[in-house]
Amino acid sequence: MVLEAIRYTSGTLTILDQLRLPHESVYVPITNSIDAFHAIKTMTVRGAPAIAIVAALALAVEVADTKFDTAGQVREFVTEKLHYLVKSRPTAVNLSDAARKLEALVKSTDGDVAAVSGAYVAAAEKMLIDDVQDNLNIGGNGLSWAKESIGTDKFSVLTICNTGSLATAGYGTALGIIRSIHKAGLLTRAYALETRPYNQGSRLTAYELVHDQIPSTLITDSMASFLLKTHPEIKMIVVGADRVARNGDTANKIGTYQLSVLAKFHGVKFVVAAPTTSIDMLTASGDDIVIEQRKPNEMVTVRGPVVDSDGNINKDDVKTVHIAAPGIDVWNPAFDVAPAELIDAIVTEKEVAVKDQDGKFHLDTLF
Ligand code: MRU
Repeated sequence: MVLEAIRYTSGTLTILDQLRLPHESVYVPITNSIDAFHAIKTMTVRGAPAIAIVAALALAVEVADTKFDTAGQVREFVTEKLHYLVKSRPTAVNLSDAARKLEALVKSTDGDVAAVSGAYVAAAEKMLIDDVQDNLNIGGNGLSWAKESIGTDKFSVLTICNTGSLATAGYGTALGIIRSIHKAGLLTRAYALETRPYNQGSRLTAYELVHDQIPSTLITDSMASFLLKTHPEIKMIVVGADRVARNGDTANKIGTYQLSVLAKFHGVKFVVAAPTTSIDMLTASGDDIVIEQRKPNEMVTVRGPVVDSDGNINKDDVKTVHIAAPGIDVWNPAFDVAPAELIDAIVTEKEVAVKDQDGKFHLDTLF
């Protein structure tokens, strides 16, 4: 079975409900931008590239389904819906980047209703196809960089959050690099952080690693420093990105910053894997990135199937349980920023960006 977060055939979009993983694989229909907004906000779909693609394709389905009298109406409709969709989650740049490009496309497309709506739908569909190829290229580029920088002896890798097939159109970014290292026979083991509070590591990355039969171990977020101290075979930490600022500062899942600090202390390579659509040249540094705050419930409750006294999982009996002292205040930022200073390489589908002698990235050369 191929892991697919997004299924699209002309006019029909369904997404794998990531709230039900890993215990159930259920695809839910997305018929318009309201469905997409809700799916993104509730994290039924999540991961920077997947969010952008679902938003674009949902609007493609809606455009194909709507009767317009003039090309101007199509342009107005698309622009308004894109502005709405961008508000669903603020930190990942892929969504706003896609929205800006798609808006510019419909504004610059001449012709009748069919020409403008057709151009929009074709561009949205292309995003799905391009993302898979970009991720395969990221995997290949990351593997080559690892061989040059770490060597060709087998090594282990640590990662956080979910950056795989479930967060993208397929293959994944950071997890794509892990897949490529594994395919090349160089991976001893992948360590996945549980990734509290939403557990993308234990629910989604672990699911992908088990699915692909990649040797892998799950740890809690608080075990990372002791793991690095006791497992010198870990040579690389590889993470995804929700937004890479012009100077290389990288916003990614909360917990990424502490990993970048740990990598420095333990002499482990710290690598960001990101398509160029995650690089935001309009944002100068991490200080300018808006970090999404999520609801306290995500931290103080856990949802999952009930386990009986023999350890059997009853997937038909799903419950939410409360795991904190009622009344406690909660701080729940969804992302943090790893400073460029602590990043060894930013692996994109085009090339691997590294710093110059003065310790500066030059990401403008990628565009
Ligand atoms: O809150 P999420 O699950 O959308 O956060 C996802 C991440 O932080 C990923 O690492 C990032 O989006 C890159 S996915 C290829």
